[in-house]
Parts: sequence; C-alpha cells; structure tokens
Amino acid sequence: MAYQSLYLKYRPRTFDQVIGQDHICRTLRNALREGKVAHAYLFCGPRGTGKTTSARILAKALSCENGVTESPCDVCESCSAIREGRLLDVVEIDAASNTGVDNIRSLKEILGYAPTWGRYRIYIIDEVHMLSTAAWNALLKTLEEPPDYAYFIMATTDPQKVLPTILSRCQRFDFRRVPQPMLVGHLGEIASSEGVVVDEAALWAIARLSEGCVRDAITMFDQIRAYAEDSVTVGDVNAVLGTLNEDALFTLTDIVAEGDAASAFRVVEDLAQEGKDFSQVTHGLTRHVRNLLLVKSGCTSVGALEADEPTIAKLTEQAKRFTMPMLMGSLSALSDARDDLKWNHQHRLVLEIALVTMMTQTPATVGAPTEGSRATKPSAPAAPPASPAPVEASGEGTADDDDADALLAQPEVAEEPPADDDAMPDTATPEWQRAVLKVAEIEPKLGRLLTSSVGEFRGDNELVVMVGSLGASFLQDALKDRKLGREIRSAIEGVYGSELRITVRAANRPNGDIAPPNGTGAAEPPAAPSALVLDMFEGSEEI
Ligand SMILES: Nc1ncnc2c1ncn2[C@@H]1O[C@H](COP(=O)(O)OP(=O)(O)O)[C@@H](O)[C@H]1O
Ligand SMILES: [Mg+2]
Ligand SMILES: [Zn+2]
Repeated sequence: MAYQSLYLKYRPRTFDQVIGQDHICRTLRNALREGKVAHAYLFCGPRGTGKTTSARILAKALSCENGVTESPCDVCESCSAIREGRLLDVVEIDAASNTGVDNIRSLKEILGYAPTWGRYRIYIIDEVHMLSTAAWNALLKTLEEPPDYAYFIMATTDPQKVLPTILSRCQRFDFRRVPQPMLVGHLGEIASSEGVVVDEAALWAIARLSEGCVRDAITMFDQIRAYAEDSVTVGDVNAVLGTLNEDALFTLTDIVAEGDAASAFRVVEDLAQEGKDFSQVTHGLTRHVRNLLLVKSGCTSVGALEADEPTIAKLTEQAKRFTMPMLMGSLSALSDARDDLKWNHQHRLVLEIALVTMMTQTPATVGAPTEGSRATKPSAPAAPPASPAPVEASGEGTADDDDADALLAQPEVAEEPPADDDAMPDTATPEWQRAVLKVAEIEPKLGRLLTSSVGEFRGDNELVVMVGSLGASFLQDALKDRKLGREIRSAIEGVYGSELRITVRAANRPNGDIAPPNGTGAAEPPAAPSALVLDMFEGSEEI
C-alpha cells in the first residue's frame, strides 16, 4: 500500500480535532448552529495552521446529508466525497497555481452554476491574494450579491495583498501559530497512534523548530521517525535536522559569557565536522538568548519559554552570567545574523561574526571605551611591524591621506566595475575569513559588512579586498583612521604573516549578493550610513 504522509493521514476531520484555533472553531460552530453562516470568509494566517483543513470541515458541515450541522458526520456520501475531494459542488481553486487568463475564465464559468447534487455550492479559494485583477473583478461581482446557494471560503498567507473591496465583504479569521505545548501534545498523540516511542524532549525540539506550523511539525516527525524507526530521541532530531541540542547551546553561550573567542571558533569547527546547519544553529542560539532574556526579566512560564522545567532552571542559572544590556546586544547581533543568512551563503562566517559580536557585549568589555579599542580578548597576533606601518588606505602604494580622501570623494572609484580579473570569487579563502573575524573583533559592524567580501592576496604583498560599495567605503574610512586603521591593518597582516598594501574595491558578486551596480545599496544592511559610521567611530552601540 502506498505510504501516506502523516500530515495527510492526520488531517482533522471535525472542528474538535483542529488544535490551537479555538477562537475560530467556536465562532464557526455557533454560526452553523444558529444558521448564521456568512457567505464569504477569509481565512488568514501562516501556512500549515489549519486554513484549508477548516475550510473543508466547514464545507462538510454545510453539506452533510444529516443537515447543516456543527459536527459533520464524516461518513455520509457528501462528507466522504468532500474529504476525498470529489464532490462537484465543492470547488477548490488554488490561485497560486492558476494564473491570469486561465483562472478568470474558469472562475467565470464555475461561478455561474447552481449546485448539482447537494444543497450548496462552496468555493474554496486558496492563496486568494494571487488571483489576477480580472479574476478579482469577476469574484467581486459575485461577492457583491452572492446567490443564496453560494459560499466562499478564501484563504491567504498574505492578507495585506487582498484588495480592501474584497476584505470588506468577508468575515475575516486570523489563524495563529500553534503554541508549543499544544504541538507537543498533538505530536505525542500521533506518535502513540503510530506505535512509535518518543522522548518528550524530542517532541519539544520538533515543536520549537516548527515555529507553530502544524504541518511542518508533523512532517519533521515523519522524517525523523523514518530515520529512527521505533523509538525517537532528541539525538535523532538533531541528527536529522542538523540542529544543536540544548547542552551545546548552553556550552556555546557559556563561552560567549567568558568572551573566549578561541573556544568559540573551536566549537564552530566541531559543529562543521558534525555537519551541522549553521543557519539552524543561529536560529537555535537566538531562541536560547531570547529565553535568557525572558528569564532575566522574571518570566519563567513553560509556554513563553518553549522549554521544560529542568531547562528553565538551567536558563535561570546561566542568565546570572549576563546583564540585561548584554543579552539585548547579543540578541540584536543574532538578529543581524539572521538577516544576513538570507542573502549571504557563508553561513558559518555569519555565525562566527555573530558570536564575536556577542562577546563584545561581555562584562569584560561592557562600558569600556570602545573608540578604537579591542573589543574582545587581545587574541589578534601581535604582529604590528615596528617600522612605520604602511599607511596608504588604498591606491597603488601612495602613502598619502589626501589620496585616500580623493578616492572617497570619487564615487566612480568606489563603484568601479570590477575588471576582468576582479570578478568576485564566490567564496573567500580561509585566510581572508580569519582576517574578517579579526576585524570583527575590533569593529563588529565593519566585520559584518565584510562577511561577504573576498580578499585576494596578489604577488608583491598586495591584498585586494572586494566588497559591496557600502562596505568598501566603510573599510576605506576605517583604514584611514589613524588608530583604528593601524589596528585593523595589523590584525589582517597578522593573519597573512606579512606587511600588506591593502586595496579596496567595490565589487559586485556575479549572483548579485552584494551591492547592485551604481551603489544603490539595495542589498546592503538597511541602516543609514551616517548612523553606522557614528556607531563605528564613536562606539555608540545601539541595542
Ligand atoms: N490547527 C491544526 N490542527 C491540527 N492539525 C493541523 C492544524 N493545522 C494544520 N494541521 C496539519 O497540517 C496539515 C496541513 O494543514 P492545512 O489546513 O492544509 O494548512 P494551511 O493553513 O496551510 O491551509 C493538515 O493536514 C494537518 O495534518
Ligand atoms: Mg492551505
Ligand atoms: Zn455527513
């Protein structure tokens, strides 16, 4: 027999079985009982939270052979036909897969028909915000004066995109992400019906990762069960999904509290060896720090923390190692990292930068003057040349501040289209990645701008740094600054083991990752440059 996905097998058949949407189910049941069902509903909310499911249950409730009812029988011919998607009077349209002309024609055609078999004709229109304008107009006409036999249940993940004229004609319900404890319960029931033994901790881990999406939660469980067979542990969850277990999150956070960059990088290396997904790790760490922040502010509810009792006790202990501003600063570093993960494919480097930035929030450095000072432990190799360091900020070996000024004043230099040999390679060398980390230790914001840069060591001690235009102008500015420039230069030189002439080029990634041509900056972090410059050079950390 063909394998049926668990999420389909466990699709709720009645309103009682729908979890986490009581506010909606109750209103619908009341309306059914009192004969006050509206002719148009709009179900909004994240994917996998029960919109399509509830629409089908409502259709069954209206069409059940036992009469309009709040609890459809699910066995009569009408109920079974709807469940199996073969009742002609229930028309399901997926606007996401039907476009333009097609769906206007089919909509116009199908809207005209009276029910052929049952009492009502019910239209379930999924992702309704994707209908073409022409289709909207056809729909709107019908919605203005729907025939008595017609009911519309529209669903969307993006209600902002639904026209106001449609919105005003619908009764709107907002489906919510399902709270973790409820998901844990639901997964537990599915597991026991399937005869699978599963750790409570594993269920929590899945529930957390699903972020309130029931379908994702069930699909993950399905996947892990296939891997683990008869019994599922939290280790299986981490192995299949590339996530970190709670212990590792505690360890990593302890290392951050100690400001021990070297150990942090060692842990990251281990994670790489284990094949962890750094984007998942960053998400896990974000959740962990958020929990620390909640605990610190006195919240210890299992539901809010998405953690069990023993974990909450450990969180309370660990939170003592941090101050509130340190935690908020860390959370903001992690949220920057999560933004970066969307466009920067060097996930490991993004995580490392976030860790280093978090360490700049540690007690050792909080409140310390940050102007040009080393934010974390002095772990950069002591390689500053005793002879006067080369001070040219850029250009081909001219040691002159004016020159650097001139460079900055000429946008065409910063936006110079990469020459043939400057086409930006996709990934940075390990040396350059280490150099970026060193820079991040000195100036986290600059480090972040450099996460997708590439440094190429050319003969004759020349290092060409290719970076998006915003990053390029910040790097040039920083190198020009007497004190900061010297620190950054010597950190980079420490990695390469020699004095360097550093040339900064604004480059465009072939895949458009960095700045678009002409420096419109659409792909840059969305901060006003002036604010960032202030941050960098006056050390005012926003949190
Ligand atoms: N609120 C819920 N209660 C129980 N199961 C749910 C719920 N929401 C989603 N599911 C599960 O996820 C699957 C997909 O749900 P669906 O209703 O299609 O989500 P969507 O909101 O994307 O339309 C269902 O088959 C069911 O297994
Ligand atoms: Mg759906
Ligand atoms: Zn029935």
